[in-house]
Amino acid sequence: MCGIVGYIGEQDATPIIIEGLRRLEYRGYDSAGICTLSEGNASIRRSEGKLVNLERLLQTEPIAGSVGIGHTRWATHGRPSEINAHPHQAGSVIVVHNGIIENYLQLREELKSLGHVFRSDTDTEVISHLIEQRRKTGLGFEAAVREALALLKGAYAVCILCEAEPGVMIAAKLGSPMVIGMGEGEFFVASDIPAILSHTRSMIFMEDGEMVVFKGGNASFSTIDGQGIEKTPRHIDWSAHMAEKGGYKHFMLKEIFEQPRAVRDTIAGRLREEAGDVYLEDLSLNDEQLNGVERICIIACGTSWHAALVGKFLIEEHCRVPVDVDIASEFRYRNPVINNKTLVMLISQSGETADTLAAMRESRRRGATCIAICNVVDSSIAREADGVVYTHAGPEIGVASTKAFVTQLVALYLFTIRLGRARQIMDVERGRKMIAALVRVPALMEETLKLNEQVEKVARNYLHARDFLYLGRGMNYPIALEGALKLKEISYIHAEGYPAGEMKHGPIALIDENMPVVVLVPEGDNYEKVFSNMEEVIARGGRVIAVCSAGDEEVKKKVEVALEVACEDDDDVNPIILSIPMQLLAYHVAVLKGTDVDQPRNLAKSVTVE
Ligand code: F6R
Repeated sequence: MCGIVGYIGEQDATPIIIEGLRRLEYRGYDSAGICTLSEGNASIRRSEGKLVNLERLLQTEPIAGSVGIGHTRWATHGRPSEINAHPHQAGSVIVVHNGIIENYLQLREELKSLGHVFRSDTDTEVISHLIEQRRKTGLGFEAAVREALALLKGAYAVCILCEAEPGVMIAAKLGSPMVIGMGEGEFFVASDIPAILSHTRSMIFMEDGEMVVFKGGNASFSTIDGQGIEKTPRHIDWSAHMAEKGGYKHFMLKEIFEQPRAVRDTIAGRLREEAGDVYLEDLSLNDEQLNGVERICIIACGTSWHAALVGKFLIEEHCRVPVDVDIASEFRYRNPVINNKTLVMLISQSGETADTLAAMRESRRRGATCIAICNVVDSSIAREADGVVYTHAGPEIGVASTKAFVTQLVALYLFTIRLGRARQIMDVERGRKMIAALVRVPALMEETLKLNEQVEKVARNYLHARDFLYLGRGMNYPIALEGALKLKEISYIHAEGYPAGEMKHGPIALIDENMPVVVLVPEGDNYEKVFSNMEEVIARGGRVIAVCSAGDEEVKKKVEVALEVACEDDDDVNPIILSIPMQLLAYHVAVLKGTDVDQPRNLAKSVTVE
């Protein structure tokens, strides 16, 4: 989830681009770069780390030009480093890119065989080489861009310059966001509104498959295959503060709504539909090594631990390998049974959690192979692990994890397919079915997000409750735990998650008309069982908020509130979708109570102390 900015006009491009990048730093901050064109010569400055490093570099090595592009990076392919920072240049073509090019390895090999030399590990660099290759065949800049873009699979928002045509800037979009700012004889390109809001409020939102060519004080819009289109600017009256959060009141809500995109990005480029398998580029374990695993131990903290619990269900069900799940701070002070036949999986969105890192070091000391699921490329845990499955949620600003959590579930699902296929316990057909179910998830999540208004109303009716109980069974039990944790964290209401079948062994004593009980009761495995647990609650005067499959009249008849969710037929992916109403309920209760949703008291985003 990188940020891009472009400028073409009469002014000095550098301060405009740097200011824009500063406003986009929330999209990524592991490196930044800029390119300006002056008299047909490109000047590029790039540096690792936060934007301030680039600013320092520009003070000692300034650049000039009234056309330029800039980038702030959140690594997906290739570690954070100056060499992997954008812009990427090939010949006279310079590119900044946000998104993921799925077929970059294949394109890279083809281009290498034509003599192209690659300098970075990024997927982006293929774009500049592809365009340069087309130019070598005699095409002009614009035609070369069109042909090159047609060959890309995946997602992109790109802004491109060419030394040979210094008065032209081209931008195009497929799957990643892009907005064009319309000034007086000048134009701005950005991943997001806040980057350019101080320059213009007249904006054009690019749609997938569209391209814009800026030349001679004009902007001409077309489809990538060359058909001209009319675009009408919209006036944006957001304040700068609103714009930073994409118009949402809080980062947390923005991040909840970003989840379908985060899931798509985490899947992108990894599915091998035909083979019913997945490709996990940094896993670093071959089939033989995966076959040698006798036991898996998943270790994590907090929300990541909830993801681990879902992982146990997935892996044991589909791969028939025993899985233990441990809380890192417990694991590290036990005498765990770990040996060189154990695969230890660490789940940590930040990759910096002290207890999880220590658990990994202890596991390695005992001979285990360690792999990580992380959202931050090159974080401590990712660096020290033998292999990594990265989630591509992009930076998460809200302290209460949302999109990082659901992408952890996706990563576990992908890993399950890989392990099952490597051990040949999962046949091609099952692998294909699992992939097909996963592909349907983002659209179902979009549907589920439509519950937002209803959940807000529900929150109004329950916000004065002192305690909440969350019940679920099977894979939805960890989602009940996660729902309770979200509520505790941001609304400061006491909440407990419980396996629905275990309720009668104790917590049932708590149930009365003052205690809202959230019951996860989607159709599928365990449905009847959870249904009867729900009836037990109702029989004792409990107030049930049911989270059920869309159109479940039986549930609706029984309960005070039914949140109907667009579930998938394949149960295994439903925890991803069911997380949404959990997050929304916690969010709205917290907002109505007036707590600091994005930075709840006493909590930190990355817990680097024991
Ligand atoms: C809750 C939350 C925390 C983290 C926990 C582990 O919303 O975010 O419970 O899950 O602190 O953090 P990571 O995943 O960075 O290791």
